[in-house]
Amino acid sequence: MDETRIIQAEDDDMKDAVREAVALLEGGDIVALPTETVYGLGADAFNPEAVAKVFEAKERPSFDPLIVHISHARQLEEVAVVPPEIEETVRKLISAYWPGPLTLVLPKTDRIPDLVTSGQPTVAVRQSAHRVFRGIGKQLGRPIAAPSANRFGRISPTSASAVMKELGGRIPLIVDAGACRDGLESTIIRIEPGEKKPVIHVLRPGPVTKKELQNFGRVIVEKKRLIDAPEAPGQLASHYAPRTPLLMFERPDDFHPEAGKRYGLLSYKEDPKAGYLHRHEWAVVEALSPGSGKLAEAAVRLFHVMRVLDEAGLDAIVAEPVSETGLGQAIMDRLRRASTP
Ligand code: TXA
Ligand code: MG
Repeated sequence: MDETRIIQAEDDDMKDAVREAVALLEGGDIVALPTETVYGLGADAFNPEAVAKVFEAKERPSFDPLIVHISHARQLEEVAVVPPEIEETVRKLISAYWPGPLTLVLPKTDRIPDLVTSGQPTVAVRQSAHRVFRGIGKQLGRPIAAPSANRFGRISPTSASAVMKELGGRIPLIVDAGACRDGLESTIIRIEPGEKKPVIHVLRPGPVTKKELQNFGRVIVEKKRLIDAPEAPGQLASHYAPRTPLLMFERPDDFHPEAGKRYGLLSYKEDPKAGYLHRHEWAVVEALSPGSGKLAEAAVRLFHVMRVLDEAGLDAIVAEPVSETGLGQAIMDRLRRASTP
C-alpha cells in the first residue's frame, strides 16, 4: 500500500464517508475511524484476515488483544457471554455508560476469532458514542475490532493528521471527524462477584473514573506492572511513548539539566507554583490546560501536546505531574507509561 486517503465526515453529510468505510470493511480491509476517545484502526471483528492486517499495520505483537466495538447493546450477545453472577452489574454499567468510554472484559463467544483476543478466553467490548463510528457500525451490521490507530507503543492519535503520521502509507483510508472529545482511551474493567458488592478491577484508567465506578461496586485499580503477556498491555510499563525521552521527577528540584541540551516542559497549567516553570530556561513550554478546563481539558490535549513536544527537536521533555484525582488518575497513568524509566 502506498497511498492513504483522508475522507471528511462533515456534520451535515457523513454519508459518503460512511459508505466508503463500510465498503472497505466489508471487503476485509482496515480503516482508521474516529471515536469519542481516540482514533481507532478498525476491521470486521469476525474476519481474522482483516484483523491480521490491523496487527501488521500497527506492528502490534500478537499477544496484545483488541477491543471489539458493537453498535447497539443487542449485539453484545454475538461477541460475549455475560455470566449470571455479574449480569445485574453489567446491565447497570451498560445503561449508565454505553454508548461511551467504558470497556468491559467478558468471556468471549466462539464467533470472535482467537486473533482478536490473543488466544484469551475473554473479549474486551465497548460501544462507541461517536456518531460517525456508530453510523459505520450500524451499516456494517457486524462488530468492529479496533485498537488505537498508532504504531505499537506510540502516542495514541486524537486527530486524523496524527493518524496519518502514525499509519500513513500503511492503510487505505482515514475517516476524519475532527478532534476526539475525550482524548484518552476508554476505561477498561473486569467484574467479579464479591461478598457484599461486586468487585470492579480497573485494568486501564480512563474517562470513566474510579469515583464513578464506586457506585457499582468495590473498585480496585490494578497497579502498574511489567509482565510479558499483560492482561491489558496498556499496562506495559512503557507505552504511549514519544520518541524524545520524557522525564518525570518526584520533586522539581530533582531535575538537573545537562549543559547544552534543549529541554521542553509539558506543564499542567503553566502555573509557577508547580515549581517547574522557572526552574529552567525551557526551549518550549506547552500547557495541558491553558484555559479553565483543568483536568478534562488536560485529558483532551494530552496526546496532542505530547506529539507537539516530540516534534520540537528536544533532547528531553520534562512532564509536571497533575493531581491524581478523577481524570488525573488516567492522565498520570499515561504520563508514567510514556516516561523513560
Ligand atoms: O478508547 C479506546 O479504548 C480505544 C478506541 C479506539 O476504542 N481503543 C484502544 O485500543 O485504546 P487499544 O488496543 O489501544 O487498547 C486496548 C487495550 C489493550 O491494552 C489490550 O490489552 C486491552 O485493551 N484488552 C483487549 N482485550 C483484552 C482482554 N480480553 N483482557 C484484558 N485486556 C484486554
Ligand atoms: Mg493503544
